[in-house]
Amino acid sequence: MTAPHPPLRQFYGAPHDRERFVKDLFDGSAPWYDWAIAFFSFGSGNWYRRQVLARAGLNKGDRVLDIATGTGVVAREALSITPSVVGLDPSIGMLVAGREKARLTNVQGKSELLPFRDGSFDLITIGFALRHFADLDGVFRECARVLRPNGKLLILEITAPRSRLARALLGIYMGGVVPAAAAIITRHARVARMLRYYWATTRDCVRPEVILSAMRSAGFRDERRDVDLAIFSKYSATIPVTPARPASVSREACPSESAGTRAMTVPAPAESD
Ligand SMILES: C[S@@+](CC[C@H](N)C(=O)[O-])C[C@H]1O[C@@H](n2cnc3c(N)ncnc32)[C@H](O)[C@@H]1O
Repeated sequence: MTAPHPPLRQFYGAPHDRERFVKDLFDGSAPWYDWAIAFFSFGSGNWYRRQVLARAGLNKGDRVLDIATGTGVVAREALSITPSVVGLDPSIGMLVAGREKARLTNVQGKSELLPFRDGSFDLITIGFALRHFADLDGVFRECARVLRPNGKLLILEITAPRSRLARALLGIYMGGVVPAAAAIITRHARVARMLRYYWATTRDCVRPEVILSAMRSAGFRDERRDVDLAIFSKYSATIPVTPARPASVSREACPSESAGTRAMTVPAPAESD
């Protein structure tokens, strides 16, 4: 098992409280999530996500699964290229907050247990969420299972710099200035807490080589990391045509048939932006 970071006891008491904490965190701050990420990235977040998808060679007709979709920021960009996009997230608050913005098929569920048939997707995306999973090995095995041969995994993450000075400066901005300003502007302490947690998980996340190694162990090949602006990591990897997959449980359930998950297709608003 590879945990993405050690327990962060300043946010939740015991390790087994982490999952509940994360769900409450995102449920509670969901209405402000899109504003918050636009605020600290100076509005470049959507543009960056769109650029990465275009560069990954996403084509019209490709079937995309966006896990940890949240309000659907990555999924909406994928939808502008291909109509077949499914989002998955455990936070009903985040899924509902995203429903105003696009017609997406969303499934409430966890990345550790994907409620889809083997080989269902051409591309899986994970946007700035890897740090919230319980076990990277388990999630990557599930991704390998539901991707078709030659299917691709694409992960976007912020990586804290190795240099202590650069790390400290980024910490002052992301862990101090941004949460404080967000609390004043939104008047909601929970938004500040979400942003402080965002930085703490980024700071304490396992190094890129651990993430690449977990991808390979799960059966991916051609795994690589590309870096933009020193901190934006794009991990990508492919499922080989000749299976190198570790044994995993094959499931034949559709999203709406699986226990513990809920599929919801959300209608587009009368006028979309
Ligand atoms: C920082 S948001 C990222 C949202 C979006 N992908 C983006 O690019 O902005 C992290 C999301 O991960 C979700 N999440 C947390 N634990 C998860 C898990 N075990 N499986 C799937 N999603 C999870 C949270 O509910 C939250 O919506």
